[in-house]
Amino acid sequence: MGIFDKFSKLAAGRRELDALGIDPFGVQIDRIVSPTEGVIGGRHTILAGTNNYLGLTFDAQCIAAAHHALDQEGTGTTGSRMANGSYASHRLLEEELAAFYGMRDAIVFSTGYQANLGLLAGLTGPGDVVLLDADCHASIYDGCRLSGTEVIRFRHNDADDLTRRMRRLGPRAADALIALEGIYSMLGDRAPLRELVAVKREFGGYLLVDEAHSMGVCGAGGRGLAEELGVLAEVDFVIGTFSKSLGGGGGFCVSDRPELDLIRYASRPYIFTASPAPATIASTRAALRRLAQGHDLRQRLRENYEQLHAGLLALGYTLGAPPGAVIAVVLGERGEALKLWHELLLRGVYVNLMLPPATPDGVSLIRCSLSAAHTTAQIDAVCAAFAEVRPAAGATPPAQRAAM
Ligand SMILES: Cc1ncc(COP(=O)(O)O)c(C=O)c1O
Repeated sequence: MGIFDKFSKLAAGRRELDALGIDPFGVQIDRIVSPTEGVIGGRHTILAGTNNYLGLTFDAQCIAAAHHALDQEGTGTTGSRMANGSYASHRLLEEELAAFYGMRDAIVFSTGYQANLGLLAGLTGPGDVVLLDADCHASIYDGCRLSGTEVIRFRHNDADDLTRRMRRLGPRAADALIALEGIYSMLGDRAPLRELVAVKREFGGYLLVDEAHSMGVCGAGGRGLAEELGVLAEVDFVIGTFSKSLGGGGGFCVSDRPELDLIRYASRPYIFTASPAPATIASTRAALRRLAQGHDLRQRLRENYEQLHAGLLALGYTLGAPPGAVIAVVLGERGEALKLWHELLLRGVYVNLMLPPATPDGVSLIRCSLSAAHTTAQIDAVCAAFAEVRPAAGATPPAQRAAM
């Protein structure tokens, strides 16, 4: 088999979509108008699938900070921190993240993806063992691959299954790393963190929680689900991204472990890539300050997602989880999801189409994520579009495992 042969299947899939005149994975936003609106295909469109949870991408202070950094420090760092040196602002952001979480130290990475890659590949290696929730993000899986560690998957959000697997490890459990997420990106369901932390307490080991979709959203101070459930002190490594609630790009790990600083020296995704640009760091620092003071934003976000969740339920849609910043409409069949997604776009509503194998349990999803910046009228308009495109009664999704 030639190296290009494997693309024939992808090409066939692409031809199928072309024939329908749909390109869900190549959408071009011609103009961004605000955190909640853009122009797509000449149509004014409500953006309801951006992960821009606090709506900070147009925040005046974040933009001013980025402008200032551009003027003072230029457009890019042109190299890795290990080779070219860190800018003072990289280190300041790390100190601010550590202080925000009340932990000893932080490492800033160039993306959230690299934060998982960098931490996992820096910390673990052949001979170690990582237990990961089966629904973990690709970056957690890829970090394990890069590290060469032994990987054991446990059933999604299932503390009993984790217990069984830890027990089977015997004395190795005390040194195992458990990796999971706060809020899961596809269905928007929350990890039962208290139960999972209890397993760590029983067997030992270390806990990594990726709060990509819960930072800024959960917890009185916006630190994420671990803060909300009162278990932050038991998390050894918090992973986060700047690309969602913070409205920028980049990622981080915070930890109380004194060894965190040394992990930089063993982390290829930290060493062999250029560090984030000064404007990105500056806007992220401003966004972190806003997030920390963001009780009002979290309240707005909550009102918004409760409105959308209730609206979609009233229309008879099956949703993947109780109300939260990620609202997934669960559809049984790929074709139905494609059609729904396309019809919504034609009505000026942009959401995410998620198809297997990227989704859990082979379901097809229309994934919505709202922000604090959406207005009640915009959410009414989103619900009105969903009402118009509602599949005929009887088109039922497959058996659900997520609680409503
Ligand atoms: C759980 C999780 N972790 C990490 C990432 C990667 O973050 P980034 O897009 O900032 O690289 C994502 C992105 O969607 C995610 O959902």
